[in-house]
Amino acid sequence: MKHYGKICTLMYDLDKPVVPEVDLAFFQNYVEKSNGPILQPMVGTGRFALPLMEKGFKIDGVDASADMLAKYRRVCKERGYDANIYENTLAEMELPELYALIFITSGSFSLITDDEEISRSLANINRHLLPGGSFVFEVSEYHDAHHLDHHWNGKWLKSPKGEIVLQSVVQNDQDRNSDIVHSLVRYELIKDGRLVDTEFLEFTLKYYNKGGDTLKALLEEHGFEDVIYYNSYDKTYDKNRTSFNLIVECRKKQ
Ligand SMILES: C[S@@+](CC[C@H](N)C(=O)[O-])C[C@H]1O[C@@H](n2cnc3c(N)ncnc32)[C@H](O)[C@@H]1O
Repeated sequence: MKHYGKICTLMYDLDKPVVPEVDLAFFQNYVEKSNGPILQPMVGTGRFALPLMEKGFKIDGVDASADMLAKYRRVCKERGYDANIYENTLAEMELPELYALIFITSGSFSLITDDEEISRSLANINRHLLPGGSFVFEVSEYHDAHHLDHHWNGKWLKSPKGEIVLQSVVQNDQDRNSDIVHSLVRYELIKDGRLVDTEFLEFTLKYYNKGGDTLKALLEEHGFEDVIYYNSYDKTYDKNRTSFNLIVECRKKQ
């Protein structure tokens, strides 16, 4: 239920086929400055990694979803890109290489909501960095996540084959004081007016309501230093701005 499945992958590609230029430019800046191997965990279908590889950078990828990776692997093969792609979670990955830069885009780190798994994931990222290596990632930062206006929402899109892909999302508000928001997503694939396949995704997001205050200590506890926050891709932080992901930059302690 927590796995990004086949219909979810199709929806992801139809809904978010290209990365906005400002988002890509922000991460490209770190990629250009990196003086060693680069890894993008939670790489998904490669929305960020593919245009970066198109520009000549080698980006290794890790993701927990076989379906998201299948799409990513297929495109890499078609375009002849040479990158190592691993199916695993952040907490469990055991890669043969150490990296100068590890980056996670689009608030994906917030998908890890269990404290113990967050801890193991950060420790494992640290372990996969070269001394002084950089870790740049995004988390969701809303100050009142449970009052977000999407308790029940949905959308549908048409695939190139003419199928309808329907996504319905319902938020669970059992614990309104929690910083974790649980949603249930139902994906449906409809062909010639008939439902041909369906899947569910339990989608949980942890909101870092206190922003940097909580994360800085956690990162330092897991071997990182020089922690900097931004909440804009122009590398600024405005504490009154609450509608943007929190971007975190730090490095492995030397
Ligand atoms: C919303 S997608 C975003 C993908 C990519 N970051 C992007 O911006 O296009 C989130 C991805 O994180 C992966 N994921 C979720 N939890 C994970 C974990 N604990 N370890 C590794 N990958 C995970 C999912 O399989 C999915 O492909």
